[in-house]
Amino acid sequence: MSISVVYWSGTGNTRAMAEAVAEGIVSAGAEADVKEVGNADPAALAAENAFALGCPSMGAEQLEESEMEPFVEALEPLVSGKTILLFGSYGWGDGEWMRDWAERMKNAGAVLIREEGIIANDAPDDEALGECRAAGKKLAEKA
Ligand SMILES: Cc1cc2nc3c(=O)[nH]c(=O)nc-3n(C[C@H](O)[C@H](O)[C@H](O)COP(=O)(O)O)c2cc1C
Repeated sequence: MSISVVYWSGTGNTRAMAEAVAEGIVSAGAEADVKEVGNADPAALAAENAFALGCPSMGAEQLEESEMEPFVEALEPLVSGKTILLFGSYGWGDGEWMRDWAERMKNAGAVLIREEGIIANDAPDDEALGECRAAGKKLAEKA
């Protein structure tokens, strides 16, 4: 079984989280397919029962607008009943982008592994990476 971890990352913080999520998936005995959102296809992703999506807070508490926002828009009508883990890094805000994103996916019918996703301030510390691994493992167990 392969579980996709699709992310956008400008400076590598969200990528580090994606890699930790993948470690958790692998620790549960599944295969992890980590890819940048530019290389991912929404319909193919939606064919999976469970997957992870990562994006930092960009714009003003928004998803990255050129790749991740259109990807999420295309995915929204396809995620009803899917189990999804959201994660991402932020800088100076309070996590508003993630609350909005989680709400959006729940409204689209997705079941979130963590109610408000996993957020890390700038580079993820050991605690945040541990949360990513644990959530990746849980995602694989639900897939
Ligand atoms: C153009 C731009 C806009 C940003 N907007 C926000 C924001 O609204 N709120 C926030 O908390 N951080 C914001 N940040 C900070 C990033 O979320 C933060 O640097 C994050 O660690 C980047 O993750 P990445 O390394 O995966 O790209 C912004 C950064 C950039 C470059």
